[in-house]
Amino acid sequence: MTLLLDVHLTESDADAALRADALAGLTATPKWLPPKWFYDARGSELFERITELPEYYPTRTERTLLDRSADEIAAVSGADVLVELGSGSSAKTRLLLDAFTSPAHPGGGLRWYVPQDVSESALRQAMGTLADEYPGLRLRGVVGDFTRHLDRLPGGRHTPLPGGTRRMVAFLGGTIGNLLPAERDRFLTGLRAVLEPGEQMLLGTGLVVEPEVLVRAYDDGAGVTAEFNRNVLRVLNRELGADFDVDAFTHVALWDAEREWIEMRLRAERAMTVRLPELDLSVDFARGEQMRTEVSAKFRADRLGALFAGAGFALTRVWTDPDERHALSLATAA
Ligand code: SAH
Ligand code: AVI
Repeated sequence: MTLLLDVHLTESDADAALRADALAGLTATPKWLPPKWFYDARGSELFERITELPEYYPTRTERTLLDRSADEIAAVSGADVLVELGSGSSAKTRLLLDAFTSPAHPGGGLRWYVPQDVSESALRQAMGTLADEYPGLRLRGVVGDFTRHLDRLPGGRHTPLPGGTRRMVAFLGGTIGNLLPAERDRFLTGLRAVLEPGEQMLLGTGLVVEPEVLVRAYDDGAGVTAEFNRNVLRVLNRELGADFDVDAFTHVALWDAEREWIEMRLRAERAMTVRLPELDLSVDFARGEQMRTEVSAKFRADRLGALFAGAGFALTRVWTDPDERHALSLATAA
């Protein structure tokens, strides 16, 4: 089957970006790596396993919320193009696709689904199954980075999609929380800049809950999140010829109460020197040294309006689950 795929992130772009990130992060004090490099084929599969863990409630909670609210979202939105950033397996998106393509439904006129992800393997797999499940829906995948390639999203004035006049951009799962505050502001402002007034955004955000619940969600008993975390080292070993001894690093997940984010780190269990010949770089780790690999910021429901307003969106409606663990917000480009 031929899948319609736009590549905004070629292998050589990705390689150059990985090199730049590894050089910046591994030579910084303290060391850090950006989370987007978790998601090679293995990392994407590990993330899917995380979503099924008993401790990891965000995916389940968002799915229940979508199940309850997708019809309303479609009716309020009326979009005919659904763009999704960081779409991964598009598993939960099916609830939106069902509502947005239901012929009897007021918001059932969806013509296009445009999933975008940095992981080409996850994107191809998702599009393959969606093409069978939604034969009437036109699919156009984008391999791209939502921190860099928003200006090239299809469906805008410069790259119209036939029959598509009004986009809703979904960003689900709480992935916005994986951006640092400055990146998040840039992302929201950048997205607003490429949307026409009246186009919409559907944003999934994790909310601040009890720290014990949060930490457990990011440090599961089966060790799947630990393996996901260490996967970034495997990516550096494969792509940059690095010699990280992956088993010498342990998983750390902690709640930063001030910044209201979960921080994942990798702790070196012994002193070591790691070589990255492709970067002509050697990096020393002290015993016990910790390197940040991800933040997962959680939000306050009563501050979502301000988050959107700061970027030029007007908040239309917020749906939350009864335990107030997760929110889905529909906002309109003002
Ligand atoms: N939206 C799905 C998947 C979330 S996992 C859900 O809610 O379950 C985060 C997804 O974002 C992964 O598929 C990962 O490959 C993708 N991703 C991470 N950083 C990205 C970036 N900078 N640009 C595009 N996609 C990114
Ligand atoms: C993709 N993102 C929203 C996940 C999160 O919860 O921050 C990634 C993840 N990291 C550890 N577990 C899941």
